[in-house]
Amino acid sequence: MMQPLPATRRDWDARVRTGDAGHLLARDDNAFFRQSGSTPCLNAIAKAEGIWLEDVDGRRIMDFHGNSVHHIGYGHPRLKAALKAQIDELPFTPRRYTSEPAVELAERLLARSPHGDNGKVLFATGGSDAIEIALKLARVRTGRYKTLGFFDSYHGHGFGAVSAGGSGTDRSHRIGPLIPGGLLVPPFRCGACPYGFSRRQDGEAPIETCGMMCARMLRHALECEGDIAAVIAEPIRSTPYVPPPGFWPAVRQACDAFGVLLIFDEIPTGLGKTGRLFTSEHQGVRPDITVLGKALGGGMLPLAAVIADRDFDVAPELSLGHYTHEKNPLTTRAGLTTLQIIEDEGLVERSRDLGAQTLERLAEMAATVPTIGRAEGAGLLIGVEILDRGGCPSQPLAERAMWRAMALGLSLKASAGRLVLSPPLTITDAEMHLALDIVERAVGNET
Ligand SMILES: Cc1ncc(COP(=O)(O)O)c(C=O)c1O
Repeated sequence: MMQPLPATRRDWDARVRTGDAGHLLARDDNAFFRQSGSTPCLNAIAKAEGIWLEDVDGRRIMDFHGNSVHHIGYGHPRLKAALKAQIDELPFTPRRYTSEPAVELAERLLARSPHGDNGKVLFATGGSDAIEIALKLARVRTGRYKTLGFFDSYHGHGFGAVSAGGSGTDRSHRIGPLIPGGLLVPPFRCGACPYGFSRRQDGEAPIETCGMMCARMLRHALECEGDIAAVIAEPIRSTPYVPPPGFWPAVRQACDAFGVLLIFDEIPTGLGKTGRLFTSEHQGVRPDITVLGKALGGGMLPLAAVIADRDFDVAPELSLGHYTHEKNPLTTRAGLTTLQIIEDEGLVERSRDLGAQTLERLAEMAATVPTIGRAEGAGLLIGVEILDRGGCPSQPLAERAMWRAMALGLSLKASAGRLVLSPPLTITDAEMHLALDIVERAVGNET
């Protein structure tokens, strides 16, 4: 039985499903299986440039969501030119051959990563596939198979990732049995702490009272099980939740104490989104395996990477994930050019600085608009609470504000009673102000 769409979504569809968009969306519905998170689609897009999408009826949309692929903005001219040249020069190599862009991307990524010269890489065509590789690497390196992840986490759609992650919709019994050994603990989530601790008055995590229960319970689980291969987590949760200071050093210590690897899934947060090139840099913890994806393909091509130390090179006789497009010269050219653009345009610093200014403006808005609560984030990954009359974050109100913002031309997500702002790192100050004005209008209507 097909679930009916919620009323807010039906209102949206009535607004958008007219004209050319309506026709294309109807054909899309007819051609694709429905699934959560994509089909039925919200709209039909004809253009994507910078921070802007344009639908087939000419409506312009600021994209503060972008599935975290659009760090360098859509359609970056340098990337377009580099890909056109690469198509003419060398469009494909079968997997058993290598090419200059593949090797150079591997070398450059390593040089900038926490693994440095001591690392090695595998490429995949998407984050989900890269996570499967990371899980296999952890198994062959440790001889163990169990993972410890967080409830409500997401690491991709393969059975390995679904079993290691904690996303309820992906773990439904209708999908069938999961891979054994995927253990879960409650996540760090200051402000909505699963252990029930509330924030301090100044908004900081209540470390003195909670004693960082989240890290202690994780350690406890590693100790009790005794044979876990790896902890897998996003270093900053892309919803977003920022861990309390000292969280990752404490987890790293626990991993070392019990011979457990640490896998950082930086698929949505890596490459500058949080104001650091690698999200692991925030707390100075060196993971054993880092996974990148999404923005690595420059918002044009699908590309992901698994980076680990050389001493993981212990299974040359097995295939860990030799995908057909593993070393595709086009996808790797996209990765190389994207890295270069991020560096040349100072996008990591831009993310850090504009993110801090945005948090300041949101704090000013919170002082005057009663429904706007605390904002938190890192770089240009920011969540802002939408409050009910009792001052508590409310998911229904956040969703209503999201639909209003969407109708005003700003695409963003609502999650756990918050609006999530995740624009390209190339966004101008003026565009950011325009977007925040829309947020204020969309949320202000709530009182
Ligand atoms: C944290 C995280 N891990 C893994 C993935 C999977 O990446 P992909 O959709 O490219 O397979 C995602 C995608 O949203 C993600 O957010």
